[in-house]
Amino acid sequence: MREVKVFVPGKIILSGEHSVVYGYPALVASLSKGITVKLMEGKGKKDYKNDEIGLIRKAIGVAGGKFNGLDLKIESDLPVGAGLGSSAAIAAGVIKAVKKLNGKKISDEKLFDLTMECERLAHKNPSGVDPAAVIYGGLIKYIKNKGLVGLKTKKTVKFLLFDSGKPKETTGEMVELVEKRYKSGTKKVEEIFKKIWSVTETIQLNLEDDKKLKKLIDENGKLLESLGVVSKKVIRLSQDLRKINCGVKITGAGGLTGGSGMVLVKSLGYSKPKKFLEDRGYKTMEISIGD
Ligand code: MEV
Repeated sequence: MREVKVFVPGKIILSGEHSVVYGYPALVASLSKGITVKLMEGKGKKDYKNDEIGLIRKAIGVAGGKFNGLDLKIESDLPVGAGLGSSAAIAAGVIKAVKKLNGKKISDEKLFDLTMECERLAHKNPSGVDPAAVIYGGLIKYIKNKGLVGLKTKKTVKFLLFDSGKPKETTGEMVELVEKRYKSGTKKVEEIFKKIWSVTETIQLNLEDDKKLKKLIDENGKLLESLGVVSKKVIRLSQDLRKINCGVKITGAGGLTGGSGMVLVKSLGYSKPKKFLEDRGYKTMEISIGD
């Protein structure tokens, strides 16, 4: 029986999480790690973890497939719910696989629209930055309801990612929390968004300057801390990393209880922060973007 296989990458947000929901631009890059969907006609056998919200059923449905008539396996090297875009990647991968199995092509624009329908299961008000990053790939600047531009760098830009622990809160809950803060203190939150916007624009101009980038990533991280989307544990850990010359920010929605998902570290060398984090039991991953 014919089996189709589709790979979709994960993503990191360099700048603009949360403010992107309110129309500010975000800089986002796809990763070499991601999810692989294997699909074939069958008796509805499913092999995947963690789908409390019914994302996969929804993705098969919007792609025009029959949930009970398809065997599906999802392999992932992305931590789930940690801010690396795994839900958007799974939705886009399943939709693409259903179309491929039916011998149909799907444009990136259509795939984006259908993936957005699935994203709305996770939260009411998705900006679309995750689907845009995992579908179009590379390094992009994204603005909600306006579109995206692809960006190039002259050299690859290196970062360290570490897993601060899966937050108890979902992306949807974190977006709602920011919305509540926005409604009760619009001016203050808008000020933070405007500062993040300025950091986003300055990062775009300084992607190849490691020193400036380190400072800007850190500024961004502190703004996200003041927005209230970073846990106390991660704020303390970030302060320690800053002492050994690192710029630190969460990437994605963040989280308050326990961990805040994946955290992005920019430094001029990674052996010191890597050892610091691994000695404390955190898993790290070196990544490169751009080029
Ligand atoms: C999640 O990766 C990014 C958020 O800004 C939510 C969204 O843009 O939909 C927190």
